[in-house]
Amino acid sequence: MTNTPEYILDLIEDIFERRGAESYLGEEVTMAQHMLQAAQCAEEAGADNSQIVAALLHDIGHYKNEIPESSLVKGINNFHEEAGANFLEEYFPASVVEPIRQHVSAKRYLCAVQPDYFELLSSASIHTLNLQGGPMSEYEVREFEKNDYLEQCVNLRHWDEEAKDPNKQCPPFSYYRSLIEAQLISNI
Ligand SMILES: [Fe+2]
Repeated sequence: MTNTPEYILDLIEDIFERRGAESYLGEEVTMAQHMLQAAQCAEEAGADNSQIVAALLHDIGHYKNEIPESSLVKGINNFHEEAGANFLEEYFPASVVEPIRQHVSAKRYLCAVQPDYFELLSSASIHTLNLQGGPMSEYEVREFEKNDYLEQCVNLRHWDEEAKDPNKQCPPFSYYRSLIEAQLISNI
């Protein structure tokens, strides 16, 4: 069975364990450090569990070859935020999935509405911003603000920016396993 809670938890844990040491797109942290730190930032900010899980899993779409093909073919593109969200939406509620789907758009949004936001970006993130379309236009901003999860999307983006400290200690994946399990659609 590929849709049981055990399956999805084991799959995610396996990705963290086997692939987590890979570098994170030119940043000084590994992929696992980045996602674990993002979850830690969410927890430190007093975010609810759905936001902690969203932060923990927000870049899972970078592991496209680990994601079942049935999820990848759903998307109109194979961008990592879309691939990750399409994979996770089968198992998690929109409060977890939508901020993940929008975490690149949220960077484009924040760069448009908050002039000093640009200074918070790492050079790798500025590079990808340009590839992703740069800051949003006024029209795109208005459309983005209609999102039911706007606040969660913006929060996740801030944690994404913060979670790039090579010296910060954070809990291991196992610390979050029961929290992820509690967010599965089948358990809520
Ligand atoms: Fe990220």
